[in-house]
Amino acid sequence: MDKLASATYPINELIARRWSPRAFDLKRRVDRTTLGTLFEAARWAPSAGNMQPWRFIVGVNFDRTHKAVLETLADGNQRWCMNAPVLFIAVSALNFPDEDKPNGHALHDLGLALENIFLQAVDLGLYCHLMAGFDPEKVRQSFGVPEGYQPMTAGAVGYPGNINDLSESLRERELQPRKRRPLKELVFTGSWENPLDI
Ligand SMILES: Cc1cc2nc3c(=O)[nH]c(=O)nc-3n(C[C@H](O)[C@H](O)[C@H](O)COP(=O)(O)O)c2cc1C
Repeated sequence: MDKLASATYPINELIARRWSPRAFDLKRRVDRTTLGTLFEAARWAPSAGNMQPWRFIVGVNFDRTHKAVLETLADGNQRWCMNAPVLFIAVSALNFPDEDKPNGHALHDLGLALENIFLQAVDLGLYCHLMAGFDPEKVRQSFGVPEGYQPMTAGAVGYPGNINDLSESLRERELQPRKRRPLKELVFTGSWENPLDI
């Protein structure tokens, strides 16, 4: 199912096509090269001081890690995520490694790496759906994440599935239109909330 962004200005096709589906094809596995490409894309994101604060714990094609990641997810997310062949936790290194002081842009930069994964996924015919609904403490315990690292976001990746395989309530959410604030609420000039004339 496509859910193209109804953009007011022309945007790159990958950005327009990316969205966050809940229906994944249970039978279609993700191969190693494809996985490598996804995380290679993350690796080439920019970061403050080139600190590359992103780390990923990845469960692949319903292996043990996949099961362990699934168990850290909120019930509402588990319901649809169990069909996604790749589940991951995105973790951020919080400090500068040498100076042991906080890297104020670490979470920002993890977001940049995740957007690379999103767009690379779309280019490969895959979709990625991120989740705040997971238990970071459970992630720490299950995978031995040390102090100084923050499990930030969970992600599901897979090939698009059939929305008729979803429950009725999830199917309804899947069919809801994508909404965005208008540009005038986001882009200012001169002073705060004075919209740039575009
Ligand atoms: C950091 C983050 C956390 C999110 N958490 C959840 C979640 O726990 N469960 C869920 O179903 N969707 C989650 N989403 C998906 C958002 O609801 C979705 O990106 C947003 O509604 C915009 O829709 P779109 O991605 O299809 O454009 C999350 C997205 C992000 C970026």
